[in-house]
Amino acid sequence: MIADPKEILRDAEKNNYAIPGINATTVEGIQAIIEAAEELDMPIMVSHAQVHEPYAPINVFGPLFRHFAEETKVPVIIHLDHGTDYDYVMKAVRYGFTSIMYDCAHLPFEENAQEVAKFAKIAHELGIIVEAEVGQMPSNIEGIGGCTEYGVGVENIEQYYTDPQMAAEFCKLTKVDMLTISFGTVHGFFVEKPVLDIERVKKIHELCPGVGLVMHGTTGVDEVQIRAAIDAGIRKFNYFTGVGTSATTMIEEQIKNATSPIYYHEIAANAKAIMKERAKHIIKVFQNK
Ligand code: 13P
Repeated sequence: MIADPKEILRDAEKNNYAIPGINATTVEGIQAIIEAAEELDMPIMVSHAQVHEPYAPINVFGPLFRHFAEETKVPVIIHLDHGTDYDYVMKAVRYGFTSIMYDCAHLPFEENAQEVAKFAKIAHELGIIVEAEVGQMPSNIEGIGGCTEYGVGVENIEQYYTDPQMAAEFCKLTKVDMLTISFGTVHGFFVEKPVLDIERVKKIHELCPGVGLVMHGTTGVDEVQIRAAIDAGIRKFNYFTGVGTSATTMIEEQIKNATSPIYYHEIAANAKAIMKERAKHIIKVFQNK
């Protein structure tokens, strides 16, 4: 079913768990994520990132997300991840996304706040929740994240961390429902073991009541730190690389060992099963039981 995103956020805060925000770039990916949530009876956010437009066009994936969300018994939030262009976030509004990240974190603070506040006003009138970002999420994936130090690790990661006072000011100015904060993660695989600044999360949680704090770049963070981040106030995790790459080894093996031509749908079906297991594993951690 299509979830009431505000209700899910309130429930996550009340019961100290986090919503799994998992990106899907294929039909099998969408099915794997939703079926995993169904089997664990957990609300789920299925996410489409603007950067994936060339592989998963929003005009195809928006309606597909809605179709699968309407079919399942668990509440599904349909989310746009890292919408960086105003035209694109407005497209997501038209395609029925119920939660939209408008990522203007590359802009100076005031402009970021102005842009997001303008969009939030429109989105809220339509019942859509809004996520934005203060501080920056570094990235080990080319093209994703506010700043990119691709392939070489991220130097001096603390320079990108979210300042708690700025986060509080931003929430007041924009009325966002969810805020991405930077406190030690990067998008993609970690080059070094991440060490999260949990005290910073606690402080921001205190200063931004009623706003769901979001951690991006969850792949590669150990379960102990994920649970500590939930206890400190993280209410949604963005997770992609772990699911998106989980089937690669199986695909290599299947092709290498084939004695006759393989149909693509056979590979896709096996990939879906592996992605579903990976999604189930991480959803259980976010349940924080
Ligand atoms: P990972 O790919 O590192 O899990 O991060 C996903 C993400 O944060 C998408 O916004």
